[in-house]
Parts: sequence; structure tokens; C-alpha cells
Amino acid sequence: MAHLPLNQIINGNCVETLNALPEKSVDLIFADPPYNLQLQNDLYRPNSSKVDAVNNKWDKFPSFAKYDEFTSNWLHAAKRVLKDTGTIWVIGSYHNIYRVGAIMQNLGFWFLNDIVWIKANPMPNFRGVRFANAHETILWAQKKKGAKYTFHHQSLKTLNDDSRENGLQMRSDWFIPLAAGKERLKTNGTKDHPTQKPEALLYRVILSSTNPGDVVLDPFFGTGTTGAVAKKLGRKFIGIERDKKYVKVAQKRIDSLPKADPTAILIEKKRQVRIPFGALIENGYLNAGEFIYFGNKGNITAKILANGHIRHKNIEGSIHKVGSAIQNAPCNGWDHWFYIDKKKREKIVLDKLRQRYRAKMNKLQSESVINKLQKE
Ligand SMILES: C[S@@+](CC[C@H](N)C(=O)[O-])C[C@H]1O[C@@H](n2cnc3c(N)ncnc32)[C@H](O)[C@@H]1O
Repeated sequence: MAHLPLNQIINGNCVETLNALPEKSVDLIFADPPYNLQLQNDLYRPNSSKVDAVNNKWDKFPSFAKYDEFTSNWLHAAKRVLKDTGTIWVIGSYHNIYRVGAIMQNLGFWFLNDIVWIKANPMPNFRGVRFANAHETILWAQKKKGAKYTFHHQSLKTLNDDSRENGLQMRSDWFIPLAAGKERLKTNGTKDHPTQKPEALLYRVILSSTNPGDVVLDPFFGTGTTGAVAKKLGRKFIGIERDKKYVKVAQKRIDSLPKADPTAILIEKKRQVRIPFGALIENGYLNAGEFIYFGNKGNITAKILANGHIRHKNIEGSIHKVGSAIQNAPCNGWDHWFYIDKKKREKIVLDKLRQRYRAKMNKLQSESVINKLQKE
């Protein structure tokens, strides 16, 4: 498989499938691997009804050693396909997450957080012999320690609390209900999958750690929750699932969703683009040979040069350097130099012109991203 099977579900074993994908090609991996619950017998409620527990063949391993071997194999294969800037999320319970976490560290993944998913509506401990198991852990790690990775801090703050102007920082404890009601996929009243994850959980994962258009891979796709949320948020997905029955369920689920609206998903505030003074000259906002004024009052001037430098008497250099020489103190040229607005016939600080140019550049940049997403 030389190319990426974008927006497709591959029916197969995740290790073999991952090994056939190009190296360093995906931005994010979300993995919900078998828990290795080791359930010996069926569980019953006090009213004798059977508990819908995970008792499937795919969750059974003969020993911890075999589970570790499996975990190491798929994590190794996952690491190869992740871009160096990529991150991985792995969800699990106390049955498996400690083993998975140690193997991740051994393979060189660098932890960024461990999230506690607190289940708003957990299953009780029917026999009353332990605490109700009301949470799962999600490990978030980067492939390469210190590499630049995606984290949309501001969007998460807004998502967390929109009553404050700047939102409220999202914490590592997430209170989210289990997938239930209309969201829970069923056929003739029977759940299609025992461990379908809530979309709200994937929403936070994908929104926080990817950009629109990024590739999100899930090696244990199940009912395709990752793919469904990726599509809603305008990301591309690759799903791998061994069981044909689940592939069918996931495909139907994803096909029923409309395409995301690119103008609604480009929400992260961009970092301010650095604008050099020369860009204003290059783009005709100011011209070489014209004069700018030091301060709003007074008559100290400097001539604009074609290379973005200015000249005052025999001092030549950037707006900052010349300003600093004039006042014999550090100087931010954008706040100290003024140009004459010909229409208004008044002096206006250079920073205003920079802001005008920056707004235009930002608009152009957003339009080009939206155009690209609309074409995909
Ligand atoms: C815990 S479930 C994932 C559920 C999924 N997150 C959802 O929301 O529906 C794990 C899934 O991995 C699949 N699976 C187990 N071993 C696999 C393997 N080696 N390769 C591919 N899929 C596998 C199982 O069939 C099962 O559907």
C-alpha cells in the first residue's frame, strides 16, 4: 500500500495493515485496544439478568506475556506510521493501561498527559465487593520528545467555558457519559459492539490535537467512533478493524454523516504572522523615497529605502535601529514612526498600517485553507 487509504476502513489485522502503510504519514492515532479483561465467568445482576460485559474472543489473551507481545507489536507498528510531529492517544482500564503505558515508554513515546475519563453513568459493582469502576484512563504521548505537536489550547478553553471571555483551561479529568440512547448502535435492540466509545470523548481528542484536513488513524476501529467524529470535524480518517461485522456497522455509520463545513471548523486563532517593514514597501503600502516621521510631533524624518531600511542623516538601518539611535534608547519602530495618510492628511503610527496588512494576509490564508478543504 504505497498510498494512504484515506477515509477508508481496512478489514484486517492492525499490525500487518500498519506495516503496509507509508512511514511517517499520519498526524494522530487514537487506539482503543483489547482490554484483556480476563473475565472467567458470565456476570449477573441481583435480579439474575446477565450483564453485557466484554466477553468477546478479540479480548482474550492466554497470558500477560502474550498480551504484552501483542501490545508491543501494534505500538511499534503505530510509531512507524506516525509523523515525527504526531501524537497518540491510548485508552484503557486498570486491566491493561499500566502494561500499555510501560511498553509505550520503553518504545520511546513521551507522555504529555494521562486523562481520566470519569463515566457519568458507570455500571455498578453488582456483587458489592469492590468500588464501582467509574473511570478509564487515556494516555496521550508524542512520538518524539520535544518535537512540535498540535494542541489547540484556546479552542479547548472556549469549549470548557464560554461564559468567560478567554474560556477556562481544560483539565485532565473529563466527565463524559457512556455512549447511550440514540448514539448507541443497536440491531434489533442488541448492542452492535460492547465497547462503543462516546463521540464526546473523541471530539475532545480530535479537536485538541489535530488540524482540519489532518489524518487520524484508529487501529481498533470497532463501530468507527473515531471516523465519525473525524468526518464531523473535517479531518481524514483511516480505520483498521479485524471483524467484518464491525466494519459494516462503522461504514454505515460514517456514510450517514454529512461532510463538515470548512468555514465552521477553522476556529483556532492563528499565531500572528511576522511582518517585516519591507513587506509594506513591497506591497505598495509605502514607497521607497517617501519620508516617515519620528513621533507624532516634531520634524525628525527618515527616508524609506527600497530594501526596507530607512535613512536619517548618516544613520541607516531598520526602523527599530534608527529609532533607537535617535532617542539613544531601545525603540520599537512600529510604535515610534508615523506615515502621512494622504487621504486623511494626518500622521498615523506605522503599527496601524502593519495591522491592516496583517488582517489582509490572515484573510487570504484562511480563504486558501477553506478552498483546499472544500475541494477535498
Ligand atoms: C475496544 S474495541 C474498540 C471500540 C471502538 N473504539 C468503538 O468506539 O467502537 C477493540 C476493537 O479492536 C478489534 N481488534 C482486536 N484485535 C485487533 C487486531 N489485531 N487488529 C484489528 N482489530 C482488532 C476488535 O474487533 C474490536 O472491535
